[in-house]
Amino acid sequence: MKLSLPDVQYDLRPGIVEFRAGHPDLALLPATGVLQAAQVVLEREASQALSYGAEQGPGCLIKQLCAWLERVEGKRHPSTQVMITGGASQALDMICMLLTDPGDIALVQSPTYHLALRVMRDHHLELLPVPSDDEGLRVDALEETLTLLQRRGRQPRLLYLVSTFNNPSGITLTLERRSALAELAQHYNLIVMEDDVYYQLWYDTLPPPSIYSLTPSGSAIRLGSFSKILAPGLRLGWMLATPKIVQRCMKSGVLDSGGGLGHFTAHVVAAFIELGLLDQQIKTLRATYRERRNVLVGALKDHLPKECHWLTPQGGFFVWLRLAQGMDSTAFLQTAEDAGVSYIPGARFFADGGGDNYCRLNFTMLSLDEIEQGAYRLGKVLYNYL
Ligand SMILES: Cc1ncc(COP(=O)(O)O)c(C=O)c1O
Repeated sequence: MKLSLPDVQYDLRPGIVEFRAGHPDLALLPATGVLQAAQVVLEREASQALSYGAEQGPGCLIKQLCAWLERVEGKRHPSTQVMITGGASQALDMICMLLTDPGDIALVQSPTYHLALRVMRDHHLELLPVPSDDEGLRVDALEETLTLLQRRGRQPRLLYLVSTFNNPSGITLTLERRSALAELAQHYNLIVMEDDVYYQLWYDTLPPPSIYSLTPSGSAIRLGSFSKILAPGLRLGWMLATPKIVQRCMKSGVLDSGGGLGHFTAHVVAAFIELGLLDQQIKTLRATYRERRNVLVGALKDHLPKECHWLTPQGGFFVWLRLAQGMDSTAFLQTAEDAGVSYIPGARFFADGGGDNYCRLNFTMLSLDEIEQGAYRLGKVLYNYL
């Protein structure tokens, strides 16, 4: 019997508009540019690129990354505070493994990236949610939680949040709250895990400076990724942290044994940046995704019942749709899929339940026609239901 093994993580079902995805547009993955960069690497530095790599990541990528970050964000990071990772997921896993113990408390933004919750649960952390509103994480609620925990003699190990163009809500934490959070973290000696993989995908204006850059005490760790701005199959990202944390990660057994993660790929990405291809790619992504975002919010306005609500995300991949009060988006999913449209139910993005009448809609992986069609189908089943 012939077994068919899946090659990719997504599953596109014919006849269904898949708003549930969280991937870049497949047609925009820059195969030609990656080929060009790989050719440069193999012709110029094959023996280094094909060797075991430095634990921190190859110097060529750290150098290119620091220069690129300085150019696009206006801040120079010393190379001692940068580490190349196997994507943001691997970095989060590594931090949990090295800096937490089973049973430690991790505060998590609600709603938040559902699969980060999985990673933290793998490390047996106790997840305590902190609510958000239209300005992002509620820092006042965080302070209350920290005070309460302190009274009980418990010190949370870290706070995980997606500060910019949140997955799933699309909301960006305001500058005032970023500054307040940075101060609070310093005061309570809390590690802020700032998952910032969407930062460069802004469609209107540049987001505020990262929490990491506002936290002089070094109690923040910021995760970046090439998954959303280049290609997720590369499995490559970066971490900004104190030299002490970077050193701790570099001394992990797995890096000591196998060298830096994705070493060859890291060389290719360094060449990709050096050739100016990353800037071009991000420009294309911004223009394409901005149009898709506009079409989705326009189509929701045209087709959805007035009981539904959403905010226009200023960047990132998602629209966070609130259905009519009392609706259960998990139970409604089958009805929606029978009508040819899918989404991720909101409850998945909460560590403690909640979000029952929300849906996460992705707009980056679909064509303009599909987006229009998906919103129309969703509107039709929602009107029928109501
Ligand atoms: C907020 C957030 N963090 C991390 C990831 C995964 O990042 P990586 O591909 O770099 O592991 C995603 C992907 O959906 C995400 O939305």
